[in-house]
Amino acid sequence: MKRILIINGPNLNMLGRRDKKHYGNLTLKEINSLIKNGNRDLKFKFVQSNYEGKIVTIIQKSLNKFDAIVINPGAFTHTSVAIHDALEMFKGPIIEVHLSDVDNREDYRKINYIRPLSTKVFSAKFENSYLEAINYLKNI
Ligand code: DQA
Repeated sequence: MKRILIINGPNLNMLGRRDKKHYGNLTLKEINSLIKNGNRDLKFKFVQSNYEGKIVTIIQKSLNKFDAIVINPGAFTHTSVAIHDALEMFKGPIIEVHLSDVDNREDYRKINYIRPLSTKVFSAKFENSYLEAINYLKNI
C-alpha cells in the first residue's frame, strides 16, 4: 500500500473563507475527505501548518516513512528556500499542488522555490488539483 504525505501550508486551513474565484468553495476538511474516501487503497497522513519551520520538521521526519509527498506550500511556494532544502532530501516523487492557476496570477507568485523539485504539478482546478495528483501517484 502506498503511503502518501499530504502537506498544506499557510492559510489553507481557511479554505471556504478565502477568495472563491481562486480557491473554490470547499474547506480543507472537505477536500481531505474527498481524497480519503475516493482512495481507500492508499494510506494518507494529512498535515496543515501556518509555520514554515513546522513544515520543514514534518518533512525531515517523513523522509523514510512515505512513498510520495503531495504539497501545497501556499504562500511559502514563493518564499521558502527552507522548505525547498527539506524537500530536496526526499527520495520519492514530490507532487506540487495548487488550487488556483498560480503560474498565471500576480508576478510575485511567479517566483517558485518548489518547482525545481516537483515531479509533477497540478494546479488551477480547485480541489480537483489534489484528486488528479493522487490519481497520478496511483498510476506510477
Ligand atoms: C496557492 C497559491 C499561492 O500563491 C497562495 O499563496 C496560496 C494558495 C494555491 O493553492 O493556489 O495560499 O498555493
